[in-house]
Amino acid sequence: MEVLDNEIKKSLGSISNEILNGTNYNRSDFARKILNYPAMMVPSVQEPIIKNLAETFNGEVSLLDPFMGASNTLVTGMKYGLNVFGQDINPLSVLLSKVKTQYYTEEELKASKESIQSKIDADTSIKKEVRFHNIDKWFKNDVQIELSKLYRAIASERSLKKRRFLWVALAEVIRLTSNDRTSTFKLHVRSKDDIENRNLSPIKYFFSTLNRSIVDMNSFCSVLEENGLVEAKKYNKQAKVVWGDSLKSIRTKKKFNLLVTSPPYGDNQTTVTYGQFSFLPLQWIPVEDIDKEIGLDYLKTAQEIDSSSIGGKMLQDFTKKKEALFEKSNTLKHLFDSFSDDEQKKAKKVINFIHDLDKTIDNSLRKLNEGAYMVWTVGNRNVNKRVVKNDEILMELLASKGVDLITDLDRDILSKRMPGRNNFSNTMSKEKILIFKTSTN
Ligand SMILES: C[S@@+](CC[C@H](N)C(=O)[O-])C[C@H]1O[C@@H](n2cnc3c(N)ncnc32)[C@H](O)[C@@H]1O
Repeated sequence: MEVLDNEIKKSLGSISNEILNGTNYNRSDFARKILNYPAMMVPSVQEPIIKNLAETFNGEVSLLDPFMGASNTLVTGMKYGLNVFGQDINPLSVLLSKVKTQYYTEEELKASKESIQSKIDADTSIKKEVRFHNIDKWFKNDVQIELSKLYRAIASERSLKKRRFLWVALAEVIRLTSNDRTSTFKLHVRSKDDIENRNLSPIKYFFSTLNRSIVDMNSFCSVLEENGLVEAKKYNKQAKVVWGDSLKSIRTKKKFNLLVTSPPYGDNQTTVTYGQFSFLPLQWIPVEDIDKEIGLDYLKTAQEIDSSSIGGKMLQDFTKKKEALFEKSNTLKHLFDSFSDDEQKKAKKVINFIHDLDKTIDNSLRKLNEGAYMVWTVGNRNVNKRVVKNDEILMELLASKGVDLITDLDRDILSKRMPGRNNFSNTMSKEKILIFKTSTN
């Protein structure tokens, strides 16, 4: 085993800096497109790692991502014929991932576009299909009317598979035609003047988005075909994505020999507000078309998804849980001790987050076979001028569970999608890819 691990270390170590730092990666890579979602993984960086590790197994390889986000990790695994399973707490990620891990033919996508076009052309109604608190703050009247036409046309499409593809295109249009300033992931309304001067047609946006999505989806499906992975118009391995809170459980009975993931770097409120980003699109998409088993009242407030994500809630029995974590991670203890009394609120948030991350690691480990590889992409961040060394903390947490680090790779994350005005981007510039192996005894 040791020999194999050394070989892996050597071959992963030979991945060029150009690939790791994304200087030559293809921004228009199929997997990144279809819908903008915050903090997406760069497939070309993960590809050589996934390929390398998958090749070390004889037979089937099953990949798990407990924080699937835009599912770029999963679709990269599909390219190499892996069975993939992912879950996320954000229903928008689930919708997007259900679409991206499906096989669609060009004909079916073009046919559904034409059918939507003819329904829209024939629709003269000005009825509004969606109401929610403050809708007029977020959408101009004419925008609501056009979005409602699109809503009616999509809802009347008979195939759920096609409806999902169309809802994803609509989600992108909703964000762009709402009154939200898209420069940050937090919801932030535009100025009155700005809103008045904007004359956007959601229907026009929708068809240009749809045209692009059809091309992107097609390019992914052609890769699957070229790699001999399509049979009877379906991906011939398993690809399953579900709504799930990884802090509670990983919702599958299956076991995996590869885990590839990139968790959030801290609680969503202070890092990336995935939930706020998704709030307006989710108002317009029927939950039953996303996943019937969603167990989160995600439209209750704009903060619901973020506060239900890891690190989002204050811990019960804080002191006891903190002490238990300090047993596992000295780095976390040192960090916590360096905060003054005035800084306790922020310090506690770091503990909440690491506690939740630790629990999701336990849940994930339960789903891994002996000798499984784990690839964690993590970044450090600053809290009140102290560095939260997520990489070292993760290594210590895993070491306390008997999981060894095999090797690590550094990467520059300037290429990652982070809005410039979000102070998060100023506090983080390096990402680490840590590769572990679960024990074999
Ligand atoms: C950095 S993103 C993942 C990126 C993804 N690996 C990709 O390839 O695009 C982190 C994700 O973790 C999700 N998340 C946060 N807390 C969660 C929880 N308790 N259960 C499941 N997913 C969670 C967020 O919704 C977000 O989509």
